[in-house]
Amino acid sequence: MTYLPDPYKIKDIKTFTKDVKLFKVKCKLNPKPGQFIEVSVPGIGECPLASCSYNKDYLDLLTKNAGNVTSAIFKLDKNDSILIRGPYGKGLPIKELENNNLIMIAGGTGIAPVTSIIDYIEKNRKDFKEVFIYFGFRDENNILLKDKIKDWKKKFKMHIGLSEDNKSSEYEKGFIQEIIEKHKPKTEKTIALLCGPEIMMDVVTKELNKLGLKNDKIYWSMERRMECGFGSCGRCQIQDLYVCKDGPVFRYDILKPKLENETSANEVKE
Ligand SMILES: Cc1cc2nc3c(=O)[nH]c(=O)nc-3n(C[C@H](O)[C@H](O)[C@H](O)COP(=O)(O)OP(=O)(O)OC[C@H]3O[C@@H](n4cnc5c(N)ncnc54)[C@H](O)[C@@H]3O)c2cc1C
Ligand code: FES
Repeated sequence: MTYLPDPYKIKDIKTFTKDVKLFKVKCKLNPKPGQFIEVSVPGIGECPLASCSYNKDYLDLLTKNAGNVTSAIFKLDKNDSILIRGPYGKGLPIKELENNNLIMIAGGTGIAPVTSIIDYIEKNRKDFKEVFIYFGFRDENNILLKDKIKDWKKKFKMHIGLSEDNKSSEYEKGFIQEIIEKHKPKTEKTIALLCGPEIMMDVVTKELNKLGLKNDKIYWSMERRMECGFGSCGRCQIQDLYVCKDGPVFRYDILKPKLENETSANEVKE
């Protein structure tokens, strides 16, 4: 693992929506599914991103223009260089997932890390049982990676929910937890992987609990503000867990009490 960034070349850029682009970067860092890298633009700063492919020659950075650093990344062109260090984090405990049914649930750019896991599964298909994928987007214009989705629909049990769109004939209207309730996945010998805003993962976890899936079979991929990326600055801490070093993927029965203690520790004492 390196703490200094190296420059890599942007080989291709795809624009999906006005604020989401995919940057294909020639790079042999090959993060494991669930790990992340730190991307920087000189003079601006750094931010953590996941690769949305499992690939030894490229990083595919599905990037949302969310602020300072990501808007600077958005201004880069094909053949420009970009600074990258990592990969960081433990990523997914792949061995624990093997020989299970998998449920993958993500919303918006949260599909990036999940996509690298699906890529890994496709390359090692015999190690996993049935795969259920649920993605949520705002409306049809905000659906990301449509080509991949079309392909996965043929291979896996895949459902897309659009929270604000009832005009689409191809996709269903509904929040992701409603889509799961309607198209129930298997829950026996099953592990679920969730990625998206914490509020979304919370409601989805409650829905999965209702269907019989226990918290020790549910993993959350956490996005917290980060600086160092390797457990030194404390910026990403949730109680005694470092999201960058111990995660960013956590088993929910372990994470839940830490999140609850974090909330109560932040309450103002009168
Ligand atoms: C492990 C990990 C993997 C990630 N993978 C991706 C990815 O593949 N694609 C992608 O588009 N984004 C991803 N993110 C989120 C991305 O890192 C943030 O959008 C980015 O740091 C914003 O930086 P900025 O300087 O552009 O925005 P800033 O100017 O720093 O902030 C803009 C706004 O975004 C909020 N914000 C910034 N970072 C975060 C964060 N980590 N969590 C919650 N709110 C935040 C700020 O509070 C502020 O309101 C990931 C984050 C983590 C921790
Ligand atoms: S980002 Fe510095 S400790 Fe996690």
